[in-house]
Amino acid sequence: MAMRPRPSWRVVPPLACAALFGSCGEQSALDPRADPAREIATLWWWMLAAAGIVAGGALFLLWVGWLRRRRPGLPLLGSNERVSNALVIVFGFGIPLAVNVVVFVVANFVVAKATDAPDPRSTPMTIEVVGHQWFWEVRYPGTTAVTANEIHIPVGTRVNVVARTGDVIHSFWVPQLNRKIDMIPGHTNRVLLEADEPGRFRGQCAEFCGAQHAHMAMYVYADPPDRFRAWLRAQSAARRAPTTPEQRRGERAFLDEACASCHTIRGTAAHGRIGPDLTHLQSRSTIAALALPNRSGELDRWVRDPQHVKPGTRMPALELSDSEFDAVLTYLESLK
Ligand code: CUA
Repeated sequence: MAMRPRPSWRVVPPLACAALFGSCGEQSALDPRADPAREIATLWWWMLAAAGIVAGGALFLLWVGWLRRRRPGLPLLGSNERVSNALVIVFGFGIPLAVNVVVFVVANFVVAKATDAPDPRSTPMTIEVVGHQWFWEVRYPGTTAVTANEIHIPVGTRVNVVARTGDVIHSFWVPQLNRKIDMIPGHTNRVLLEADEPGRFRGQCAEFCGAQHAHMAMYVYADPPDRFRAWLRAQSAARRAPTTPEQRRGERAFLDEACASCHTIRGTAAHGRIGPDLTHLQSRSTIAALALPNRSGELDRWVRDPQHVKPGTRMPALELSDSEFDAVLTYLESLK
């Protein structure tokens, strides 16, 4: 007889959330995978329960009031004015005040402390994330690795994320791992990332930052330590040199045309800092801050007409001949 899979309680929060709000996918704060996110989810469920009881009680009293609209006094308690005044004070003032004080203390002291920025001395690893309109630049201090929109961290390791911005205010938020943290011009903030298990966690800019704010997403990959080290070593290397005449032609066109003034490809003369580092573009599963999957046809669409995919993006449509476009695309597809 075939074994039936055992039900997992883990599916309950996302299902409840989906039932309540229609959709909560891989980016749900109610499906936490790290201790700080669990504290936030627990607070959320307690607040939902308290608000549910209060709203239910208020609706119940309204209903009783409507049923008894033609009768004087209170059910069971009669028309004693002192009793009804006491009820108004307890339910209208005393209980709401007590609930709000408890929520204030728990949210601002207990949960705020549990999700607080880490002491950098307590974290074996630091990464720098810089928000840009509209992508995330990711640096690994102590190495030459630079990537964009896809952050890798070793699983079970406390990672200190140093958050800055290159332009306007953004907010770095990976709901399954921790709270959000603002990226403010001229200021540095920190947030802890630590995933309990390997996996991919979606994050999103959580502060309106212009036309493409919604298309400013990212992935955090929590890798087993060996895989993470191999990834970091590969990302620290210079670009894979072109091996075919078409790739060489593409690299030349990339360096001669506007591309190199905005993008960096380590190992070449391209040192632009306006757009993402493309040295290992093909190691990423998405382009344009998750706006498109990183597939040949989509990369083509993006490079030929970025304003159509992401109106307002700083990536311009380039004036290249068809054969130059093809060569540049062949070259970009070779950047493993
Ligand atoms: Cu960056 Cu919203």
